[in-house]
Amino acid sequence: MDLEDIYQNVERRDIEDTTGPRTLNHSQDEGRNEKRRGSRCLVLMTVCLGIICVVLLVSIILQHISNTAERESLFKSNKNTVKEFNQTINSLQDNYTELMTEKDQLKNNFSSLSQKKLELETRVNDLTAEKKQLQGSVDSLNQKKLELESKVTSLSEEVKLKGCKEGLFFISSESKNWSESRQYCRDRGTDLVIIDTEEKQRHITSFLKESVWIGLSDTENEGNMKWVDNSPLKQGFWFKGEPNNDGNEDCIELDPEKDPVNNWNDLPCSEKRKGICEN
Ligand SMILES: *[C@@H]1O[C@H](CO)[C@@H](O)[C@H](O)[C@H]1NC(C)=O
Ligand SMILES: *[C@@H]1O[C@H](CO)[C@@H](O)[C@H](O)[C@H]1NC(C)=O
Ligand SMILES: *[C@@H]1O[C@H](CO)[C@@H](O)[C@H](O)[C@H]1NC(C)=O
Ligand SMILES: *[C@@H]1O[C@H](CO)[C@@H](O)[C@H](O)[C@H]1NC(C)=O
Repeated sequence: MDLEDIYQNVERRDIEDTTGPRTLNHSQDEGRNEKRRGSRCLVLMTVCLGIICVVLLVSIILQHISNTAERESLFKSNKNTVKEFNQTINSLQDNYTELMTEKDQLKNNFSSLSQKKLELETRVNDLTAEKKQLQGSVDSLNQKKLELESKVTSLSEEVKLKGCKEGLFFISSESKNWSESRQYCRDRGTDLVIIDTEEKQRHITSFLKESVWIGLSDTENEGNMKWVDNSPLKQGFWFKGEPNNDGNEDCIELDPEKDPVNNWNDLPCSEKRKGICEN
């Protein structure tokens, strides 16, 4: 009900009242008027209170609505943050699991590599020991070789010495010119052979396999053959047509392939032959 309506209603009642029985006296009228004024005031106050109540209610409702909206938006953003956190945590968990797996693998690999390292170390040690052993063997073999070599040398020296003592012959090791082959014999305390009998000539020829220098030459005086001990040649065992001094042939070889006895030949002294030495 509107304020205006209330007021009008009150007025109307007043009018109805005046149109009612007019038998009331003047003092009764005055009391009624005062009563009417008081109730009007009461109505006004009531209305005012009502309005204030309504305004308060409205403001309370508005505040509540705005609070709810704020809370809702806050809740929403919180929810998003939680979601993000959850994602990060999940990803961290995944990464952790992955890293643990990798760690296990690395552990396995490390232990297998350690095992391998140990094996290799053992092998290296074995091989080192073997190497040492082999080195020792090589050393002892070298020692033995040296011993054998010196034995061979001393034996061959012995044989040579024996040969010299018993008037035996030996042949130089390399083909050289006449004077060098003679030097080979002289270096060993002997000289190129002197052949003064047919028996000796046959004997020497029998064991020779190649032609050799003998101790005969006419270097000093062409046509005047001399032995290395400066004695003159008495009996020669020349091959047919020799000596012919074909060019300048001053040194004499014995060639076993030519003949069992008559097999001497003159050659240039620079030719290379082995020499036959005799003590
Ligand atoms: C977090 O993520 C896991 C797995 O993706 C899911 O099961 C869980 O419900 C999530 N929690 C929240 C609060 O989103
Ligand atoms: C997990 O690992 C991936 C790649 O390895 C990386 O890109 C990501 O940032 C990591 N996650 C976190 C939360 O660190
Ligand atoms: C472990 O070793 C295996 C093969 O031996 C290899 O394939 C793997 O990549 C290794 N793991 C790591 C983490 O290095
Ligand atoms: C023999 O050889 C030596 C060394 O090569 C040399 O000095 C000498 O002149 C040579 N003698 C002859 C006659 O060729």
